[in-house]
Amino acid sequence: MSQPIPNAVPCLRGNEWLYLKECLDSNWVSSVGPFVERFERALASWVGVRHGVATVNGTAALHVALLVAGVESGDEVIVPTLTFAATANAVRYCGAVPVFVDSEPRTWTVDPQKVTDFLARECDVRGDRVVNRATGRRVRAILPVHLYGHPVDLDPFLELAARLPLALVEDSAEALGALYKGRRVGAHGLAGCLSFNGNKVITSGGGGMILTNDEAFARRAHHLTQQAREPGPEWIHREVGFNYRLTNIQAAIGVAQVEQLEGFLASKRETARAYHAALAALGGAEPLREAPWASSSFWMSSTLLEPADYGDIRVLIARGNAAGIQLRPLWHPLHRQPAFAAHQAYRIEVADHLYARGISLPCSVGITAEERERVIAFLAGARDHR
Ligand SMILES: Cc1ncc(COP(=O)(O)O)c(C=O)c1O
Repeated sequence: MSQPIPNAVPCLRGNEWLYLKECLDSNWVSSVGPFVERFERALASWVGVRHGVATVNGTAALHVALLVAGVESGDEVIVPTLTFAATANAVRYCGAVPVFVDSEPRTWTVDPQKVTDFLARECDVRGDRVVNRATGRRVRAILPVHLYGHPVDLDPFLELAARLPLALVEDSAEALGALYKGRRVGAHGLAGCLSFNGNKVITSGGGGMILTNDEAFARRAHHLTQQAREPGPEWIHREVGFNYRLTNIQAAIGVAQVEQLEGFLASKRETARAYHAALAALGGAEPLREAPWASSSFWMSSTLLEPADYGDIRVLIARGNAAGIQLRPLWHPLHRQPAFAAHQAYRIEVADHLYARGISLPCSVGITAEERERVIAFLAGARDHR
């Protein structure tokens, strides 16, 4: 039987070994060391922001970014329903509550019109607070997610954040390298958060980063991720902080990965292009394509499949996995999750439709043309048997 084709696994073919050896030889293996700052500087400058604050993972980056953005216990934060649980978990870690909003059909990302409607129809501005009339809670932030590598249409959110007392934090965990109107995502709002989990565009084993142009924001985020220890020789803490530091070992892998980032993005784009062409020939498929103002990082190569042509998507995924082709369903909408069912969901129609039809195809940076052809042959076979 041929080798299984994983969905998305790391590509570690650069200086990873060399830099790891440097950590071991120098004894800098833990949460301080030269690679941490190197990683922060390299990535911040690549994205085009002034500051990067490395964290132990992307969820921690979101948690701290929301806290520094002013999210407090009892507040509400607007998030998409179609995203990984980490987005909403970070809101809950602040003691705040997510309000789930629908996807828009073109980009699958959170619908700016529905967010605007929610704020206009369901909320009041009372002094310097936006208050959700139904719950009486303050709405403090919007946390859109650049989903599967495709950027959110950010202008309407930037306009809302400029007009209302709302912070805009970008969950860029899935979209390192994507461009919104020519500028990299993670650089538009007050802060952007990245993930370097093993299946992301680049990996550091595990890790995350907060990106921001605001120096005070970066300083405070750094402080909170370091147990909020005051500078000086003693261990003085004026508030409760978090041990969210990235290790030098992880950062060493991260630095080696940043060096290869352009090539990784080219590979992701090539895979998406190949699938788009093949799916157009097969028919019954609607891949997630770039909006005219967007350049996707194509973290995932995702597509909707027509059930009349391909049958039940869950059956297809199970058959793919049994055949060694690792297909992924889309994120299970959060408003349907037991953990979040109690929270408000605003006019959700599109996300459920996407969830019922969407899959992500194997798209590791190292995938070969022959492997992509096996994926397409599998889909063609599924279509023929209908
Ligand atoms: C949209 C989104 N947000 C946040 C995260 C959290 O990142 P991490 O796994 O590094 O904590 C992920 C991925 O894992 C993600 O896909």
